[in-house]
Amino acid sequence: MKKVGIIGIGEYLPKKVLTNADLERMVDTSDEWITTRTGIKERRLVAKDEATSDLAIKASEKALKDAKLKPEDLDLIIVATITPDMQFPSVACLLQSALKAKNAVSFDIAAACAGFIYALVTAQQFIAGGSYRNALVVGSEVLSSITDWQDRNTCVLFGDGAAAAVVSQVQSGGILASHLGVDGSFEELLKIPAGGSRMPASQKTVEQRMHYIKMRGNELFKHAVNLMVEAAELALQKASLNSSDVDLLVPHQANIRIIQAVAKRLRLRMDQVYLNIQRYGNMSSASAATALCDALTEGRIKKGDIVVLDAFGAGLVWGACVIKW
Ligand code: ACO
Repeated sequence: MKKVGIIGIGEYLPKKVLTNADLERMVDTSDEWITTRTGIKERRLVAKDEATSDLAIKASEKALKDAKLKPEDLDLIIVATITPDMQFPSVACLLQSALKAKNAVSFDIAAACAGFIYALVTAQQFIAGGSYRNALVVGSEVLSSITDWQDRNTCVLFGDGAAAAVVSQVQSGGILASHLGVDGSFEELLKIPAGGSRMPASQKTVEQRMHYIKMRGNELFKHAVNLMVEAAELALQKASLNSSDVDLLVPHQANIRIIQAVAKRLRLRMDQVYLNIQRYGNMSSASAATALCDALTEGRIKKGDIVVLDAFGAGLVWGACVIKW
């Protein structure tokens, strides 16, 4: 099997900043509550005319430039998102057209906050097997479009953003191992009840605010810690490594307390963990992706480092990926 790795990366965060002080004026909350319970200080929100594909396009252009590839060099585009521009066509199709990536096939993956890892591992299979040479893997979300801005339990958590990675064959290092998992019996912990075929949009679903994220945060918290620890350990095991070999953990940025608990259980110091939750909040599939991009930009990852991407999300779904840089 061919070695596969990330050869270019880029991100795009919308310009508008929503601070905790802004949220204090919208719902019954406080900067102190949000900071101590979640670690979030501010998040980004799209402009009125921006949708998920717009964020994905800007992040992808940067990733292609970083990889020194042209759009026509792409054979495959996978977009991880739970907030597509519309039900169909997929964001990946809109992105393929906007980039003029005329040689690429494209599709979306819906694996919530683990989406970027699912997409990365999927792209790896196509390249390792020899079907394709260059893939673009994107995590892009406009969570503000599915957030109930009257619900203090959830609205303080989410933000909008995107990151993209170009995935190709590499001479050394690359993706060493991964672990993906699902348990759909936890559907009720985190969902948007309406808008699909089970409960199509109606006046009633709109009035009952059923098109927004409904979350049982407390229960999710415990699963999140256990599943992220398990995913990282199993992926490391498959790579014949253990947590003492890890240089940087790049986790999904849902809650600083979840990340601290995961780091502790993996016996990692917090300076071995990358955080951008304070700036961007939880951006679902874009969180681990932008965290990886920011870590690279800030020089936190050097050649030869062992990096672990680790995420969980609605489904429940979870996954981890061990990459040698
Ligand atoms: N401001 C002030 N008070 C609040 C707020 C707020 N924004 N939100 C909730 N509270 C109150 C609650 O009403 C409750 O009050 P009560 O005791 O009077 O009933 C109190 O704070 C404590 O609430 P908890 O829910 O127990 O708070 P907790 O410490 O669990 O923190 C949180 C809540 C931040 C949501 C946490 O449970 C969490 O992060 N869970 C995981 C979330 C997550 O990871 N989501 C998954 C990924 S998202 C995706 O896949 C799209």
